[in-house]
This record gives sequence, structure tokens and C-alpha cells, in this order.
Amino acid sequence: MQIVKSPQEFQQLRKNLQGSIGFVPTMGNLHDGHASLLAKSKSENTITAISIFVNPTQFNNPDDFKHYPRTVEQDLTLAEQLGVDIVFLPTKENMYADDYAYRVFATDSWLTSELESKSRPGHFEGVLTVVMKLFLIIRPTRAYFGEKDYQQYQLIKKMAEAFFLDTTVVGCPPIRNENGLPLSSRNSRFTPEQFKHVQLFPKIFHADLSPEEITAQLIKLGFEVDYIEDYESRRFGAVKFAGVRLIDNVEITT
Ligand code: PAJ
Repeated sequence: MQIVKSPQEFQQLRKNLQGSIGFVPTMGNLHDGHASLLAKSKSENTITAISIFVNPTQFNNPDDFKHYPRTVEQDLTLAEQLGVDIVFLPTKENMYADDYAYRVFATDSWLTSELESKSRPGHFEGVLTVVMKLFLIIRPTRAYFGEKDYQQYQLIKKMAEAFFLDTTVVGCPPIRNENGLPLSSRNSRFTPEQFKHVQLFPKIFHADLSPEEITAQLIKLGFEVDYIEDYESRRFGAVKFAGVRLIDNVEITT
């Protein structure tokens, strides 16, 4: 497994890579959700690359950035076990030599005005900008994204199409624990007690109830509800518990 630390070094290496390149961008603290994307990439490509970079520009909340779990050594061991070929491990300084003066900005329907866009101003500008930079450095044949972050996946797919990028954006189903809770790096921030309580979120979110009923039940259980809303046959939810934010979405048949 090769570890590459600067965009220039990757661009140099890229010239000699042959066959298809599958790419999985992450912010690290790897879990089975990330592993599922890597497995799909490995099954469909000659070479699989992962990036691990806690992208500062997509954190609208400085506290969230500060507490985001950083476990690079553990991540490298796991990546190696999963058969990853190349790890791209850039720094803030080499990804943002322009000091974030140049950005990707989108205005497109509810995707850029509602849900995560409304709750986290500037978040998707940071996501789209870093993903565009990563795509231009890595030049992947295919890039893999989790539908757990459905709005992010849709925006990246549409960005790649809008800019005629030579990368196919592939969506992958969410990986959940035995109680239906989507695996998330932020889950590691809960104490065992809190984590136990949080298992009630998927139970209620996936129940056959209206968004209003779901909201009321979650509030009763001590969750702070950011939104429970339906768009285009899909239900989206975001809640906060013990200062940690969780999101989920599911296809609905109405
Ligand atoms: P991160 O939260 O590390 O997630 C990296 C990728 O793993 C994303 O495509 C995300 O949707 C996917 N993922 C996370 N949890 C998952 C789960 N339980 N099941 C399936 N896939 C899951 O998303 C980001 O990082 C960043 O915004 C990034 C795209 C890397 C840009 O900085």
C-alpha cells in the first residue's frame, strides 16, 4: 500500500497508473460503511485509492471539527487489510494553498436550499470544493459515495455531470447496525449509555408514521429534532443527541 501526502506527488504517480481507478473519499475513522465502499471499488476496478482528510471547510460548527475523531494509524492498518492500493493523506495547507479563495458553489432545487443545506450553511460548498479538488488530483474512473449522505451523493453526482468530469459517481446503500442505526464516525463520540439511547432514533424514524408524529416522539425521548421531512419519495431526518448530530434517510412508498 502506497501512502501519498501531496497533490503534486499524486499527480506525478497518476501518470504511471494503468487500468481503472476506483476512489473512495473519506474523513477517516473508518468503519464498515467505508469498508463497503472500498469493497465495491475493489470489485469494479484495477486500482483502489482512498483519501483520508478531515476537510475543515465543510464544518460549519467549529466544535464539530475540533471533536471529529482522528484515528489515522488505525485507519491505515484497516485500509491495508482491506487491500487498498493507494492512500491519499493530504494536509490543509497543501489542499488549500489558495486559502479557500476558489470554491464550487451550487444552486439547485431543494438539494441546495433545504435539509442539510439549510441547517449547515456553507457545508456543501466545502464538500463540493474538496471533492472537485480530489477528483482533479486523483482523476478516478469511478468514485464511490454512501447513500447514507443522500443529499451529498446527489450533489456530487450532479456536479460531476455539470462539469463533464470523466468520473462515474456510484451510490452505495447505507450500512446499519443490528438496530438499524447507520454506522457513522460521529457515533464514537457517545458514551455507552448515550449510544444505547440513540438506538431509538432508527426505530422511530423508520416507523410507519407521519413526519409530525416522528418529530413528536423523538422530542419526547429527549432528541433535538433538526428536521424530519419528505422529498421525492424519500424521508430525511436529522437529530442531535448529547451534542452529536445524526442523519438518516429512507425511500418511502406513499
Ligand atoms: P465521511 O463521513 O468519512 O464518509 C465517507 C463516505 O462514506 C461518504 O460517501 C459517506 O456517505 C460514506 N458512508 C459513511 N457512513 C456510511 C454508512 N453507514 N454506510 C455507507 N456509506 C457510508 O462524507 C464525507 O466523509 C465527506 O463529506 C467527504 C465526501 C469525504 C468530503 O470531505
